[in-house]
Amino acid sequence: MELRKLAAEKGLIYGTAISATSIEGDPRFADLVLRHAGLVVAEYDMKWQHLNPSKPEDDNYGPADAIAAFALDNGLVLRGHNLLWYRSTPHWFFDLPSQQEMERAVVAHIRKLAERYRGRVHSWDVVNELIEPANGRPDGLRTAAFLDQMGLDYIELAHRTARDADPNARLVVNEYSVELDSREHEARRAALLGLLERMQRSGTPVDAVGIQAHLPVTGGAPFSASRLRRFLAEIAGLGLTIQITELDIIDRDVPADETVRDQLVADTYGHFLDAALDEPAVKMVVTWGLSDRYSWLTNSRRDRLPARPLPFDADLEPKPAFDAMVRAFANAPQRPADEDGWPRSRITVQS
Ligand code: XIL
Repeated sequence: MELRKLAAEKGLIYGTAISATSIEGDPRFADLVLRHAGLVVAEYDMKWQHLNPSKPEDDNYGPADAIAAFALDNGLVLRGHNLLWYRSTPHWFFDLPSQQEMERAVVAHIRKLAERYRGRVHSWDVVNELIEPANGRPDGLRTAAFLDQMGLDYIELAHRTARDADPNARLVVNEYSVELDSREHEARRAALLGLLERMQRSGTPVDAVGIQAHLPVTGGAPFSASRLRRFLAEIAGLGLTIQITELDIIDRDVPADETVRDQLVADTYGHFLDAALDEPAVKMVVTWGLSDRYSWLTNSRRDRLPARPLPFDADLEPKPAFDAMVRAFANAPQRPADEDGWPRSRITVQS
């Protein structure tokens, strides 16, 4: 029972985040990825601060190339993450002397990265995590790193540069904390929808929305299937497709007992995926890792016990979360597979 096959039978792509070290240094894990994932995405190897840590020309593309080769050699879909992110912007960027120099650096970086894998990347998260209502702007946009330094036009500049660098890649606005029935998530959803509508009105190329889905165990926060469905329908109503891009379940605040924790985590996978996969515009599900052996959440519990957020445990054995995903894919309505090369005009509303 492979997740990638169950997903593909319903027109979905299922995949996982990986790192070059995890697939190069752990053959058993690499085999598990090849068995269950139809797509891979770099957890961090394609991020700007990893590619050019100390200056623009000190290219460190080896790990990123290894992930691209792993995808290509094994017939996997390659997802691109990410072209820009306020948290992975190299420190030298902030020392550049002018807005013009910053724009030049952003364009050069996006061109170099997107052209390097041109034609091989299914989707790019262009400017990761654009929204931050806590920054106090009426439009709810994040000011850190780019908007403060370069002004609002940087979003259109980044998207147009990405489209030009790789016309085949779907351009994605990728966000977190838009999944739950809470005031904070509601504000973030409103800001995201407003941004998408402005992007379309201005002719900024955007094709899909990424929903990261780093979810607390159900019960730890209010989850409403109907509210999620309504949000997904609103995105689909804009003519955009939807990708679940970083799914994992945060078991930080639940009992230490592994059996109890694993069931709560599995229930959360099931509740979320049952609701999300009801939306035909959802074309992809990516977990932010496949095994608890490699998760960014490993050390997130206060009791110092290793977290258990993913479908397979640290010994690469399936957990109840795996069974929950199998059921969710098996119960998912059939959808047309993600169109390739669809008419772009359908996405960008001419102003
Ligand atoms: C995280 C990685 O998992 C970590 O290994 C890295 O140290 C920091 O970034 N949202 C995102 C991802 O879009 O890029 C982040 O990944 C998790 C939050």
